[in-house]
Amino acid sequence: MGLKLVIVYASTGGNTKETAELAAEGAAGAGAEVDSYNAYGLDASILLEAQAILLGEPTWGDGDHHADWSPFDESMADLLQEQRRLEGVPAAAFVGCDRAYRNFGRAVELIEYRLEECGAKIMQQGLKIELKHNDHSRVFTRQWGADFVRRATGELPRQPHRPAMTREQADAVMGISATDRNDRGKRGLR
Ligand SMILES: Cc1cc2nc3c(=O)[nH]c(=O)nc-3n(C[C@H](O)[C@H](O)[C@H](O)COP(=O)(O)O)c2cc1C
Repeated sequence: MGLKLVIVYASTGGNTKETAELAAEGAAGAGAEVDSYNAYGLDASILLEAQAILLGEPTWGDGDHHADWSPFDESMADLLQEQRRLEGVPAAAFVGCDRAYRNFGRAVELIEYRLEECGAKIMQQGLKIELKHNDHSRVFTRQWGADFVRRATGELPRQPHRPAMTREQADAVMGISATDRNDRGKRGLR
């Protein structure tokens, strides 16, 4: 029996949903048994069954939780936090983001703090996918999911998760170099 991985996500435009799907593909390829859920209306007790956890939402508001995520986050606080019921469970975060906003992908930290308060152990750096996947980020995200499973099972070492991904690291996920970014800037693109 593979590692039982629970993925919970929220998404409005589909970007973060696709991240959840790609990470699930990678994780399943690395031998995990994956169950994925939309956070809307979901109770955090679903996490009690998990041997490993991936949580993701688009960064919303002004660097805040997505509206579909907030009740799930509150449910985690109510149910799991006081007795640290996720003690030692391997976990990681993935978010949608957009550098046009001041708090770039800050939902990564919000999710990680909640997971840590519930006792979970963050195994690798949170993934920030800006606006929409491309072929490069799809490959990266499948690998991110597979690596997470290998870290959770001890096959790979734990990766420091702070500081969170910078804009430049998020560009690397999309296969965009600093030169590309400057050229895009000159052409009036973000
Ligand atoms: C109302 C609104 C607020 C947002 N606020 C932020 C923000 O504070 N920081 C950020 O990095 N991205 C922010 N974004 C960008 C989204 O996180 C980004 O577009 C994401 O890819 C959407 O994911 P989805 O397609 O899964 O809904 C915001 C988007 C919207 C529509």
